[in-house]
Amino acid sequence: MIFSKFNHSATNASKAFVTCAPMEPNTYITTHKDRFLEELFDLLRIPSISADPAFAGDVKRCAEVVADHLRNAGAENVSIETTAGHPIVYGEKIFDPSLPTVLIYGHYDVQPSAPDELWITPAFEPNIRDGKIYARGSADDKGQFFMHVKAFETMVQTGTLSCNVKFMIEGEEEVGSSNLGPFCIANKEKLKSDVILISDTSMIANDTPSIDIGLRGLSYVEVEVIAANRDLHSGVYGGAVANPINVLCSMIASMHDENKHITIPGFYNNVLETSAEDRAAMAKTPFDEAEYMRDLGIDAVMGEKGFSTIERTGIRPTLDVNGIWGGYTGEGSKTVLPSKAFAKISMRLVPNQSMEEITELFSAYFTSIAPAGVKVEVRPHHGGEPVLTPTDSIAYKAAAAAMTDTFGKEPIPTRGGGSIPIVALFEKELKTKVVLMGFGLDSDALHSPNEHYGLFNYYKGIETIPRFFEHFARLSRS
Ligand code: BES
Ligand code: MN
Ligand code: MN
Repeated sequence: MIFSKFNHSATNASKAFVTCAPMEPNTYITTHKDRFLEELFDLLRIPSISADPAFAGDVKRCAEVVADHLRNAGAENVSIETTAGHPIVYGEKIFDPSLPTVLIYGHYDVQPSAPDELWITPAFEPNIRDGKIYARGSADDKGQFFMHVKAFETMVQTGTLSCNVKFMIEGEEEVGSSNLGPFCIANKEKLKSDVILISDTSMIANDTPSIDIGLRGLSYVEVEVIAANRDLHSGVYGGAVANPINVLCSMIASMHDENKHITIPGFYNNVLETSAEDRAAMAKTPFDEAEYMRDLGIDAVMGEKGFSTIERTGIRPTLDVNGIWGGYTGEGSKTVLPSKAFAKISMRLVPNQSMEEITELFSAYFTSIAPAGVKVEVRPHHGGEPVLTPTDSIAYKAAAAAMTDTFGKEPIPTRGGGSIPIVALFEKELKTKVVLMGFGLDSDALHSPNEHYGLFNYYKGIETIPRFFEHFARLSRS
């Protein structure tokens, strides 16, 4: 029996000794809703920024807190698995081997909070405004994976757990999950499950539930353009020697044509063209472009000719500069012809593009278009492969049924524009189907200042997850 500090009356084993009937899951959630929020706040206070080595101690502490929560919620064999990078937290509850097993994946690491001055309240001081939890990680992904921990606690405490559960919560998603792949490959038996359930994506709107059935992949490179062997006086040498920033800008500009088509030869070779039927279905997805522009403060959208905004972010690949620097950017002016220029470039990939192949095509092309007078270097970073998940699986049907129960509307299958690098490996190495049942919104300001997550979304997720378990167990039987 699990001894819980929260509820002593309703575990399966103690049922016979209590006079009152075990609580309904929804009653349990309502009774404990304030604590569910306080516990999330404690997690959000830890700056578990995986990208910055200065926060490694906080990342580790966060893993310990996640492990404690799993234990308190009723998980067994909880362990903190060390890796070459940040630790992975594992826990499980296998109570009936004849029942299906659900593996929950999530990440407790977060993106850096910079620029901090743009946060209305500090990134790691969670608070509620307008019914939303403001904090780095509130939506991506602490608020979302923690819904699973609280839903699990609810199922354990109300004696309604209908599937075995495994948790794998990692600390390196935001830096490419490079140590999780080897961990999965080395622990295939331990991680065996019938479905991998992930809440780390968005829905269309709070009154329009949706489930992502695809994610884009990512190829990420850093480039360097080197001209003269030192910075030069821009009057004395300007006009006669290559300016690496000018060169880099024209090289980047030349990688899109006038239709915003990417010009790298072979870039689109393996792009899976979406059928007319699927495109027609996408066109019916509720989407208010005027509201989209208003939210972003823009007066027009921009993208590849011949595709809608939903298609541009869902089924088409991209090439974007994420950062560019070089020369003098301090106060006032300095007349200088810089010696070097740099940029970080991301390419979002769609099925069936391959990260490695696209990175190679980019490198070859970028090198080939460098004019005489400069040298270039391309340094590949982490990335991830694109994925498509089936809609005819038991797992998808269980998620759709669960959301239909709690939203009163059937969710719409959508294609997410972001990437979760490990998902492709789950399918390839663990041979397990993934369901992306996310509860966030694209407007939650992920990775931006003032990231937030709706209280509605947090509690709706906690309420929906037990329904998923129920439907998944039922559909697995039939
Ligand atoms: N949770 C996001 C991915 C996401 C967000 C997918 C919204 C669909 C909708 C994830 O944490 C993320 O930010 N991934 C990175 C991957 C990268 C750092 C390797 C991304 O997409 O940039
Ligand atoms: Mn995430
Ligand atoms: Mn993220």
